[in-house]
Amino acid sequence: MSSVGIDQISFYTSNYFLDLRTLAQLQSTDPEKFYQGIGQEKMGMAAHDEDIVTMAANAAYPLVQNGEGEQISTVLFATETGIDQSKAAGVYVHRLLGLSNNCRVVELKQACYSATAAVQMACALVARQPGKKVLVVASDVARYDLNTPGEATQGCGAVAMMVTAQPRILSIDPEVGSYTEDVMDFWRPNYRKTALVDGKYSTKIYLKALKKSWEHFRESSSLSFNDFSHFCYHLPFSRMAQKAHQHLARVNKSELTAAELEQQIADTLSYNRIIGNSYTASMYIGLSSLLENCGNNLAGKRIGFFSYGSGCVAEFFSGTVVEGYQDVLFQAQHQAMLDKRQEVSYDEYLNLYEAPDPKDGETHTIEADTQGRFRLAAISHHKREYVVI
Ligand code: CAA
Repeated sequence: MSSVGIDQISFYTSNYFLDLRTLAQLQSTDPEKFYQGIGQEKMGMAAHDEDIVTMAANAAYPLVQNGEGEQISTVLFATETGIDQSKAAGVYVHRLLGLSNNCRVVELKQACYSATAAVQMACALVARQPGKKVLVVASDVARYDLNTPGEATQGCGAVAMMVTAQPRILSIDPEVGSYTEDVMDFWRPNYRKTALVDGKYSTKIYLKALKKSWEHFRESSSLSFNDFSHFCYHLPFSRMAQKAHQHLARVNKSELTAAELEQQIADTLSYNRIIGNSYTASMYIGLSSLLENCGNNLAGKRIGFFSYGSGCVAEFFSGTVVEGYQDVLFQAQHQAMLDKRQEVSYDEYLNLYEAPDPKDGETHTIEADTQGRFRLAAISHHKREYVVI
């Protein structure tokens, strides 16, 4: 069977961020707790006219702008910041991107894991119809209550990946290690805008799920820890990946030094440190970060992936970077987007924190603010109105 995997990858985050030094000052906390202790520096804050739909469309636009959307059979939209109990957010994205009416669209949910479910399902669809492409988008706004330990781990972002046969970036291996357990480490009931979390417990369950997924992966894969050059972990905050990687190294009795272990994940963390948690998108923004920031040629290198979704479902899988991958990255566009972001004050942060959520049927127009190509222009008669700028 020909290889299947990621042919293109692009991400988007909002144009605003709060520096965690500002939060530390307000909370009379040592900023090093955030910068070093959890490994985060800034967190993205969506403008009022941005949401999971506009971020996803912005992430996906470079992948379809030259009529390249023609062969897309399916759009899989992964999120845990759903905007509707019924209609899939991807249907709005489908229209904003001008995709074919013969393309199916569906939304997937299982906390931060669902983007990986989407990637695996996309690989299966493409294996069945190798001439077709599947667009996977993952988009989230991470929100916790103010003045809680989770507040410093907020963020927002979206990633878009085109999954095809003979991919130009990453060929994904068929073997997976899965782990599911019914736990309450992080959840968000339908009536809440912010997540509830048992923070310390969630980090323990993450590590347990890593070990269990890895053990299950090893039952079907001949690959061992030493076959991997780099590892991409789900990134709720970058220190979590460092702890996870040290844990996996211990499980495997690895003889690599601390510096060598750090080198295997360091480049995956750069974007997350300044974007914050983007839930479903975060591990794949980590992959972008690795591909775009690693000084060495990664072609032919094996990457290990650990995807974790609270609740919990986790998966370990692997892929090999394809020769010439550098030619299809959107590195310059990503850097330009990150460079033009604006820092907000604490008061501005509080304002952005309250996303528009009118519950009456009146017409609420939303002031133009985003630097992106797509915006939420109004909520009218309970309908969200998206426009191309
Ligand atoms: N200088 C340097 N480091 C400092 C410091 C200072 N002045 N002060 C504290 N630290 C260190 C601490 O020693 C600690 O390090 P270790 O974990 O290595 O011991 C670290 O900073 C964090 O300090 P605390 O443990 O005191 O932090 P906290 O209790 O305030 O919150 C948290 C930490 C529980 C992770 C919290 O941020 C949280 O609840 N986050 C949301 C939940 C989360 O992200 N869970 C991750 C797993 S679940 C998942 O992955 C799904 C998902 O996306 C949510």
